[in-house]
Amino acid sequence: MKFDFSTLSPIERYKLISSTVVPRPIAWVSTCDAEGRPNAGPFSFFNAFGEDPPVLGFAINDRRPGDRKDTGRNIRETGDFVVNMVADHQAEEMNITAAEFRPEVDEFAEAGLEAVPSEMVRAPRIGGSPVSFECELLQIVELGPHRSLVLGRIVLMHVVDEAVRDAARYHIDTPGLRLLGRMQGNWYVRTADALEIPRIIPGPGKIAE
Ligand SMILES: Cc1cc2nc3c(=O)[nH]c(=O)nc-3n(C[C@H](O)[C@H](O)[C@H](O)COP(=O)(O)O)c2cc1C
Repeated sequence: MKFDFSTLSPIERYKLISSTVVPRPIAWVSTCDAEGRPNAGPFSFFNAFGEDPPVLGFAINDRRPGDRKDTGRNIRETGDFVVNMVADHQAEEMNITAAEFRPEVDEFAEAGLEAVPSEMVRAPRIGGSPVSFECELLQIVELGPHRSLVLGRIVLMHVVDEAVRDAARYHIDTPGLRLLGRMQGNWYVRTADALEIPRIIPGPGKIAE
């Protein structure tokens, strides 16, 4: 079966994309507004886009035309944010922060989260997250009238001590982070089920120059 995207509505395209581009990592983005009030929300149109410069990006859609989500509004106001990775034991709290609270509601309090002060940005990080990236806003790409791609430059990374295997060699115990991935709809996946596939070295005469 084929689906011609030019004939589909946004929600139809969303269903097809979000149920097949899986699992997606989840950016649990913490921000603060100009008055310093904290906010958190999960975003799974998310990934890392390289290490030089070190860039993370996630996409935000408007709730309704012209109704910006708090995360995007705060980032435009302050110019920074923190991407926290979600451990499987934090699923319930993450889900609470996805609820559509009014802008003045403190989602940290609603979800029982600890707002830990960051060191290099104004946005707080989420206490208990196994990994947090303090980011400075690099660029916001307006993808369309209702969706923007937020790109941030990582300035500081926090990893829980237990998950650092060898700090001098930058080796992280990835399975030990027990991160959660997003599948379709309200389904998630634990990332503990991994398999190793060694890279292939082309034979003589086939190696790229
Ligand atoms: C796992 C998960 C992933 C989500 N991913 C996105 C996303 O990529 N983009 C988006 O705009 N909303 C996404 N949402 C919905 C937002 O989290 C939700 O609109 C939230 O209220 C935004 O918070 P804010 O208004 O405090 O910014 C996701 C929700 C969940 C539960």
